[in-house]
Amino acid sequence: MARHLITSAIPYINGIKHLGNLVGSQLPADLYARYLRGRGDEVLFLCATDEHGTPAELAAAKAGKPVDEYCAEMWAVQADLAKGFNLSFDYYGRSSSDQNRKLTQHFASVLYDNGLIEERMETQMYSHADGRYLPDRYIEGTCPNCGFDSARGDQCDNCTKQLDPVDLIDPRSTISGSTELEMRDTKHLYLLQSKLKDDIDQWIDSQTGWPVLTTSIAKKWLHDGDGLQDRGITRDLDWGVPVALGDKPWPGMEGKVFYVWFDAPIEYIACSQEWSDATGGDWARWWRTDKGADDVRYTQFMGKDNVPFHTLSFPATIIGSGEPWKRVDYLKSFNYLNYDGGQFSTSRGRGVFMDQALEILPADYWRWWLLSRVPETSDTEFTWDNFQTDVNKDLADVLGNFVSRVTKFCRSKFSEDVPAGGEWGDAETTLIADLQTRLTAYEAAMDGIEIRKAAGELRAMWAAGNEYLQAAAPWTLFKTDPDQAAAQIRLALNLIRIYAVLSAPFIPTASAKLLSAMNTLDMEWPSDMNAAVQALPEGHAFNVPDNLFDKITDEQRDEWAERFAGTRD
Ligand code: MF3
Ligand code: ZN
Repeated sequence: MARHLITSAIPYINGIKHLGNLVGSQLPADLYARYLRGRGDEVLFLCATDEHGTPAELAAAKAGKPVDEYCAEMWAVQADLAKGFNLSFDYYGRSSSDQNRKLTQHFASVLYDNGLIEERMETQMYSHADGRYLPDRYIEGTCPNCGFDSARGDQCDNCTKQLDPVDLIDPRSTISGSTELEMRDTKHLYLLQSKLKDDIDQWIDSQTGWPVLTTSIAKKWLHDGDGLQDRGITRDLDWGVPVALGDKPWPGMEGKVFYVWFDAPIEYIACSQEWSDATGGDWARWWRTDKGADDVRYTQFMGKDNVPFHTLSFPATIIGSGEPWKRVDYLKSFNYLNYDGGQFSTSRGRGVFMDQALEILPADYWRWWLLSRVPETSDTEFTWDNFQTDVNKDLADVLGNFVSRVTKFCRSKFSEDVPAGGEWGDAETTLIADLQTRLTAYEAAMDGIEIRKAAGELRAMWAAGNEYLQAAAPWTLFKTDPDQAAAQIRLALNLIRIYAVLSAPFIPTASAKLLSAMNTLDMEWPSDMNAAVQALPEGHAFNVPDNLFDKITDEQRDEWAERFAGTRD
């Protein structure tokens, strides 16, 4: 049995995520996890909240709460929304966990022992108006690389370049807006990534088949300009993992914490320890190559802005430690989803957020649309028109309609049992062969995490059933040849079970409804279509399910477009 470790980029704690965040990591990761479990593989699927750093402090201040309290509350909110979207994490951890604190301090001490961390005096921006240093998101200004006017102190959202506050042109405090900033010298720790450049370069070169988006971003930061830069990994903040040498204090670093991007990826490992501690699992079997993790295939999911941290910074931590940690085998990255002519934006509250989405429609509607339109090869756009069209066509007209016609017809002309009689002929053989071909393509796309392609194959399998039914027309045939009509409906009822199994990664709720309507627990993957179309035998009782998907009306579409046109506070 193959073993798969899957992680989704861990979402910032600072508020509810929008659909662009969801489709950029957690949702596709869930699709892949569900698919592999469906194929019978062993999966450990982890996610967590990213709780440290300036985003958390700023959001807590805005909410008027102590930061630890704010984080605990938001963790519960995000965990609950993840459940609402049916994200099947084996564990949803927290980067503020004890496990992560210990592990982060451990990595710092081994990296220091290996000569890869250096103490440096550096210049930080001190704000007199605010009475404090302004690291990362406490400061904004113009990007020296692309000219974007609200680049943050740690990264430019426009060109993805990693920045230092002192790089910004016309910097200002995001707390007070003050531009009276002074450069002050203070001691910080640097991770000497430049010493690891060749190791990282070789490791990336040895990976095959990574998405171009992933490798091109990694190569750019490895080779452009002066190449891979050493990186400050500490900050003058109160909230975070205290800087320490393992479990001992780090002289001269009192009152400082590790940079959020240093401890956040380490949470991928710490989260497995949280999972172990909570469930009695064996985390080392997934993460230590000396404890069996050599057999694991590790896949990471993330948006493109996260790629430098996952291809360079985190590997620098892991490789630099010299310890036998599992490295990522495949790194799937995504472009951006835009919202109706602009960008989704958390800070400006623009777009549809996870809680709002679930208020208006069940998760499957969103899952299907987002995954079938996932921004894989370029940025894509959510519009209410597209959403309505796809949902109504794919889910209601094709899949939903097939299920409803077949089950209702059977109940009215035969009974709520799989009908006996008749035999399959050429049309059925052709359909089964067509489905077998599509299934192979579907599996290849899912194995290769080509999600749009996979969605296309699945949609084509639904459509093939519909076309068969349309051509066979059992409702007409029934009058002259009820046996033949029975044989057709027997096949169609079996297709419903097959669709339920194949569609589960995309639309798990509908899939469960279909299986329960077909009165079966048989989730066996239909590898052999000829066998699969006979899984529900003659006489097997089923129920007509409630309508699977409601169509989105024009009124609803217009109402939602208007309701979500502005910004949320
Ligand atoms: N919180 C980051 C974001 O939402 C992602 C962190 S991923 C990890 O962009 F690697 F740091 F864990
Ligand atoms: Zn820029």
